[in-house]
Amino acid sequence: MENTLKITINGKVYDSSPGKTVLDIARANNVYIPTLCYHPRTGKAGKCRACLVEIEGFRGLKESCALEAKDGMIIKTDTEQIKQVRKMIVELHLSNGEHNCIACEKNGHCELQDMAYHCGIERPGFPEYHETIPLDDSAEGIIRDHNKCIECGRCVTACNNNVMHEVLDFGWRSGHTKVICDNDLPMGESSCVQCGECVQVCPVGALTFKNAKGKGPYWELEKKKTICTYCGVGCSIDMYVKDNKWVYSMGTEENWEKQTNKGMLCVKGRFGMDFLDREDRLTTPLIKKNGKFVEASWDEALNLVSSKLGETKAKYGAGSIGFFTSARTSNEDNYAMMRFARGVIGTNNVDHCARL
Ligand code: SF4
Ligand code: SF4
Ligand code: FES
Repeated sequence: MENTLKITINGKVYDSSPGKTVLDIARANNVYIPTLCYHPRTGKAGKCRACLVEIEGFRGLKESCALEAKDGMIIKTDTEQIKQVRKMIVELHLSNGEHNCIACEKNGHCELQDMAYHCGIERPGFPEYHETIPLDDSAEGIIRDHNKCIECGRCVTACNNNVMHEVLDFGWRSGHTKVICDNDLPMGESSCVQCGECVQVCPVGALTFKNAKGKGPYWELEKKKTICTYCGVGCSIDMYVKDNKWVYSMGTEENWEKQTNKGMLCVKGRFGMDFLDREDRLTTPLIKKNGKFVEASWDEALNLVSSKLGETKAKYGAGSIGFFTSARTSNEDNYAMMRFARGVIGTNNVDHCARL
């Protein structure tokens, strides 16, 4: 049939459709192929060679992330040669940086660590060979650790092609090559807007969120799916929480093509969720008396609001009343306010601070 193709991976035949890469088909069928430079949202880069596979009739090993599958291909992903090459790639990365995982924020969800585990590397085979580069924690929300960078380029592609802020690039040459902000400025002095897209795609601990540091390793966090409260775009967020407290936000990667935000977030959705647990939030109603706000009981506040709303509605009608909700409450609170306005008071005058 025209719209289907069959490929064989490790002796098993899989159906697929044209236009897919070998990696796409392997992943769709739970066949393990590691990747480092490839990310679904930054696309194929063909740089790291982590995804090499053997294809019958092809000379040498091929990058599965960049190779379109053709009908009848016979592929192997786990030969001795592939295992040796993968091991060598990981060992070279480990020797070319400071991959001391124990207290790394990425411990437990680092793609290099994962690959090292699958290769059975307990101790790197080569000595560490690199200069230590000072940590860049000049930015408000992001910490950059060049010593953990594997130069996969995902952050550069994401910054330039996804969010299009065009801050990151590769600078310098040879053994001194590194990811730079603008003309090699500290991130906090560069034109970076702190959207955090680069952190989201980084496979290792080279880019991490400052607000999440020390708040708990990955396996202690819970992932909660929600929609950002800030504006009407409706970005999908995966919030990582611990003990019911927000730790950090990621744009939802699952089905990212179908999300309005395509996996990205702006600085507010990314970092502005600490209002949930701030200690200076109001927890007691305030009533203005003689020009000053004074604390009141819930009964006093609710009685005052209901009598004023009742009087205003009786005198001027429901259309004279409007409700303003807030981005700094939950979606459920905003929904309840909308229902109260329409269902109880009978007005459509509902607005939200995101439009101000
Ligand atoms: S935070 Fe956003 S703007 Fe800044 S470097 Fe990363 S992707 Fe680019
Ligand atoms: S900072 Fe992260 S995403 Fe960017 S090149 Fe280095 S390892 Fe890759
Ligand atoms: S993941 Fe395919 S070359 Fe890097």
